[in-house]
Amino acid sequence: MLSSACKLQEKQQFSLQGEKGLKDFFRHYFTMGVAIRAQDLRGQSAQLLKQQFGSITAENAMKMARLQPQEGVFDWAEADSIVAFALKNKIKLRGHNLFWPEHLPEWFLTAPPGQELNKNLLLQRLRKHILAVVGRYKGKIYAWDVVNEAVADDAQHLLRPGLLTQIGGQELIAKAFEYAHEADPKALLFYNDYDLEKTVKRDKIIRLLQDLKSEGTRIDGVGMQAHWDIYNFKDDSVRRAIEALGAANMKIHITELDVSVYPWEFSQRAKNSDEIDSYTPDLEQKQTAVYRQIFQLFRHYTPLISSVSFWGLSDSYTWLDYFPVRGRKNYPLLFDENLQPKKAYWEIIQPIN
Ligand code: GLA
Repeated sequence: MLSSACKLQEKQQFSLQGEKGLKDFFRHYFTMGVAIRAQDLRGQSAQLLKQQFGSITAENAMKMARLQPQEGVFDWAEADSIVAFALKNKIKLRGHNLFWPEHLPEWFLTAPPGQELNKNLLLQRLRKHILAVVGRYKGKIYAWDVVNEAVADDAQHLLRPGLLTQIGGQELIAKAFEYAHEADPKALLFYNDYDLEKTVKRDKIIRLLQDLKSEGTRIDGVGMQAHWDIYNFKDDSVRRAIEALGAANMKIHITELDVSVYPWEFSQRAKNSDEIDSYTPDLEQKQTAVYRQIFQLFRHYTPLISSVSFWGLSDSYTWLDYFPVRGRKNYPLLFDENLQPKKAYWEIIQPIN
């Protein structure tokens, strides 16, 4: 398999102009998307983006802390520039995200002077934020990650424990979806999280969403983040996750795909002095094989999976250069630091080209 893809690669002189891109190769399967920053909208990055992708997600520019850093003070500049670029170039837009309990701006959980923080206040704040954001981009953003990472990792809790859950509980999650629906009834509404491949977490997510749906809340689908790595990827667990979500009547978007070349670690740590961070042929080969498995699986589950987005455009910048080890270079994407397609790129398009 690998050798035929390599031959294909050698034959091609890759150019950022005129070539077909992922969006074309996969057009009968799913929309191919990418998470970007405003600086990706210029120069060669913009060329690569337009050539390869049919959907854009703002990596950070639409998060609550960025759009509304202080209560009632909105900063739309970066998000607007991304939306304008997408509209001009006829690229679809996924919105990310409206309510992320773990990363709220400080004001959201601060009681106003002389008042106490209660559920009504949280609901008011949430509604104002969601109506403002979804309303501004109504008809332009076709799908929203409405709630991000609300479910706990451990077996005991359904929602992540903390002040928010204590005060607002499940109702906040339900209302987030209801407000998004109110602001743009045509946008698709997603719950987005990691570790859907783990049975305990997935079962809780499905239970929560079914509960909310049975009470009349509209939820269209689940975003599987898909931050995977070359050591732990198991296609059987992903297959089980896809089938369980399908059986629960959920659309599936793969929202944040990347394949780290290091084993997953949960906590931030310093780089060890003897830690090597070059992209060796061995890592390249392992990563290519994992990407092949991933796309074989995804293609099998079309149209259940209707969108696949990478969490970054090229290895020249990835959040994994900062997490879990700041300053350790990672190479998780399909394009290298010079925006050239890697072996994994040729490998995934090979069966359908
Ligand atoms: C989560 C979030 C993303 C992003 C990544 C890491 O997966 O959903 O928005 O912040 O973490 O960068």
